[in-house]
Amino acid sequence: MSIEPPSRPEIENLLVEARTFAPDPAFVAQANAGPELYAEAEADFEEFWARLARERLRWTEPFHTTLEWDLPFAKWFLGGRLNVSENCLDRHVENGLGDKVAYHWIGEPGDRRTLTYADLLREVGKAANALKELGIVAGDRVAIYMPMIPELPIAMLACARLGAAHTVIFGGFSAEALSDRINDAEAKVLITADGGWRRGKAVGLKHHADEALASTPSITAAIVVDRIGGGVHMVEGRDYWWHDIVDRQDPICPPVPVDSEQLLYLLYTSGTTAKPKGIIHTSAGYLLGASFTHEIVFDVKPDDVYWCAADIGWVTGHSYIVYGPLANATTGVMYEGAPDTPDWDRWWQIIEDLKVTILYCAPTAIRSFMKQGEAYPARHDLSSLRVLGSVGEPINPEAWLWYHRNIGHEKAPIVDTWWQTETGAILISPLPGITTTKPGSATFPLPGIVADIVDAAGQTVPRGGGGYLVLKQPWPAMLRGIYGDPDRYVQTYWSRFPGMYFAGDGAKRDSEGYFWLLGRVDDVMNIAGHRISTIEVESALVDHPSVAEAAVVGKTDEISGQAIFAFVILRAGVEPHDTLAVQLREHVAYVIGPIARPKFLMFTPDLPKTRSGKIMRRLLRDIAENRVLGDTTTLADAGVVDVIRDKSGSAEED
Ligand code: WTA
Repeated sequence: MSIEPPSRPEIENLLVEARTFAPDPAFVAQANAGPELYAEAEADFEEFWARLARERLRWTEPFHTTLEWDLPFAKWFLGGRLNVSENCLDRHVENGLGDKVAYHWIGEPGDRRTLTYADLLREVGKAANALKELGIVAGDRVAIYMPMIPELPIAMLACARLGAAHTVIFGGFSAEALSDRINDAEAKVLITADGGWRRGKAVGLKHHADEALASTPSITAAIVVDRIGGGVHMVEGRDYWWHDIVDRQDPICPPVPVDSEQLLYLLYTSGTTAKPKGIIHTSAGYLLGASFTHEIVFDVKPDDVYWCAADIGWVTGHSYIVYGPLANATTGVMYEGAPDTPDWDRWWQIIEDLKVTILYCAPTAIRSFMKQGEAYPARHDLSSLRVLGSVGEPINPEAWLWYHRNIGHEKAPIVDTWWQTETGAILISPLPGITTTKPGSATFPLPGIVADIVDAAGQTVPRGGGGYLVLKQPWPAMLRGIYGDPDRYVQTYWSRFPGMYFAGDGAKRDSEGYFWLLGRVDDVMNIAGHRISTIEVESALVDHPSVAEAAVVGKTDEISGQAIFAFVILRAGVEPHDTLAVQLREHVAYVIGPIARPKFLMFTPDLPKTRSGKIMRRLLRDIAENRVLGDTTTLADAGVVDVIRDKSGSAEED
């Protein structure tokens, strides 16, 4: 046997965060989840999920087999039949919760609607009957392209009621993105709106839908909600106003029981270059995963007012605005518009008005609030908040602490939840009554989830090291495949490490076994042979009191292979200047070591982000390398890259 020379780690472990936050004993005493859940799941994970499925879901027909695992193809709860909308609505109304509020909805202009579970059941029944009139039956696909208005969850649940699948396309996407997805799904009906409110303006949607529908042969009808008024062009024989076709329907529509593995929805994730992938989620396992994690991770109680501030066009909204909370009969908040309209305290005003107890949002939102300063949240009474969540990107320790102090007032536990469109539900997260948290760490896999960090050869990386995050055991809410392309499913997720699901993310584990997410492995930089994750350098920059947000990328370098190029957004009131650039570079070297000192540093007012708020480092690499920009269709604000590119010549070089 030959002895291998010591190799460089897959990803370096540079940033050390020593602060810890143990749960408050008063919180522990009332928490939904106790430590025994981990032991139960470990003893027999199939029986663990089977018990939860029996207890948590209403079945028309019980399942006979918990799991059929033909790696990498899973089927859960075989033989079972149920209806997802019945689980989210009818059973609560039958249990006497008809008058409980399902959604407090707030339009950006300030209009409000309150929907109880009984209201929602009625509206869903009517919408389902309208879809039936348009010929939708179990197994069909319906496309939904809408702003954040109550008709959006109503439309989703109406599909589920009939056993039809929905595919929600984010309202900010272009006509082309819409038609691509409709065609891939071969959707029969489109549900849309004339427009929605964003930053004080009525933003039209219907003209994009019309453009898309010019090249979607599968679509036979469109339903249009009148949100902004003023009228839009309606195509005779194809387009129906929601208030015409839905409002006149019978509110009673019996739920259609479907097989556990019936397609519930497709949600398209944009590959960076390739064709979008239609991620398949099915009925029973997905609903179980969403509702169980919602209850234990957020510690949701019957009287909570829960607000997930994501968009429903993103998986976070599917699982944690619609299916998880409704299955748990939770009272939720939905807000249509932007966080800075009319001013940067809109969210805090909503929390004060509705006495919101649980807030779930993305690090990008937290960093933009941090940039605006403490005064905005300080103006409002946020004392109702008792749990805070984060999702979508690694949260920088400094942003975590800002959230903890200024929003949670140092008493609300923070759950940093790692998961993906593909995983359907949260997989790695603290449980707020159990886990001692560390700012920036998603801590541990939830009960029933087996995650590991491996090196390039698929071997477990010892504690203290970094590598590739993998999952080693199937879970009920997992994706069942890519629509119409089983080979691509195997290739994309299951071929890099045989027998393991590879999520595409890098991670490290500290000496106590805590998981720290390091971002997409495609973003890892190679600096003089050291594999350095972008998030660690970004967090070191955000650690400086002048910095609100940072993004770093590797730029080709003759000497070191790659050199670090940092894009920095300063906090409000801080002016950029040369000595600050020098200080920031030194700060990084001081916090995590000279190897990570950025060679280039540029101040910028904004960063290119996806619609769900993720920094698009791919475009920043193009800017740093002076290349033609790659695909920009998923960019939230196309103007941003031009501004940065115009300035990039002025980047300070070390
Ligand atoms: C990233 C969003 C670090 C990660 C639910 C993942 C995170 C991708 C976290 C999935 C987190 C999500 N910490 N990174 N807590 N949560 N991510 O499909 O890179 O929109 O692979 O699902 O977001 O994004 P998606």
